[in-house]
Amino acid sequence: MRVLHPASPLSSDIAHFFNGIWILSCVIFALVAFLVFWSLLRYRARPGRMEAPRQSHSHRALEITWTALPLLTVGVIFFFTVKIMYSTEPDSLPPSPEIQITGKQWWWQVQYANGAYTANEVHIPTGRRIAVWILGGDVIHDFWVPELGPKVDAVPGRTNALWLEADRPGIYRGWCSEYCGAEHAWMLIRVIAQPPEEYAAWLAAESQPAAAAASPDAQRGAELFRERTCINCHAIQGTSAGARVGPDLTHVAGRDTLGAGIIRNTPDNLARWIKDPHQIKPGVLMPNVKLSDDEVRQMTAYLETLK
Ligand code: CUA
Repeated sequence: MRVLHPASPLSSDIAHFFNGIWILSCVIFALVAFLVFWSLLRYRARPGRMEAPRQSHSHRALEITWTALPLLTVGVIFFFTVKIMYSTEPDSLPPSPEIQITGKQWWWQVQYANGAYTANEVHIPTGRRIAVWILGGDVIHDFWVPELGPKVDAVPGRTNALWLEADRPGIYRGWCSEYCGAEHAWMLIRVIAQPPEEYAAWLAAESQPAAAAASPDAQRGAELFRERTCINCHAIQGTSAGARVGPDLTHVAGRDTLGAGIIRNTPDNLARWIKDPHQIKPGVLMPNVKLSDDEVRQMTAYLETLK
């Protein structure tokens, strides 16, 4: 129940409202349950009193009450719902977003105003409200990090706005909340909230071009990257690879997970992923490029240099 552990003013408003409705629902449930049990006991058949209790029809005051009370309850909930919807989302599209997030099958592309690209991990500074654009790259996805705020749809051809804000440093997990195909369940999100100085340092490092391959294995891996089909889909800034079909790999070794959260990003897992991504994430759009074991080792060595 991450919704109940708010870590931002936005999600805290939502959580308070949720708690309010929950308590109200409990009170109504208790009242109805009490009346049902009371009636059962009060009007039960007893020896010597088998006839039906006195019936009343067209009781105007009663009918007005049981129409007006639920209407009023729903009206109050509706009023606060609309109020919170408006207060937790930007009313207009921020003109130049610091962060732009695009939902794709089945991962999230994260683009920063300074030109840095990451995937599935969104770094933000704590204590500041960041205006984010949410876009859809292919089909409809939905970005939701319950501890930080409301859900926002990622719709192709449309730009939606979202505020991201965290009170304290931490890793806040979220997921795609709109069914989007076979691997919908593995489109996880990690929002990494850092103190402002740490965030600034991370962002500066992330916008640097990729490190050069040092070892012979890594150099061979870099060649393979260009020779095989990798370059058709992935970008590595500072090299000739610039495609934006799959995740940007400029600093891939610095990420926590691979495959949008399906496995931890360790050298062993990276090698398994390169060898056959479908073994790990069936349906993933990355093809198996059929590298030999030596080539997998060289490619892994290269990608591991991309910190
Ligand atoms: Cu993307 Cu569900």
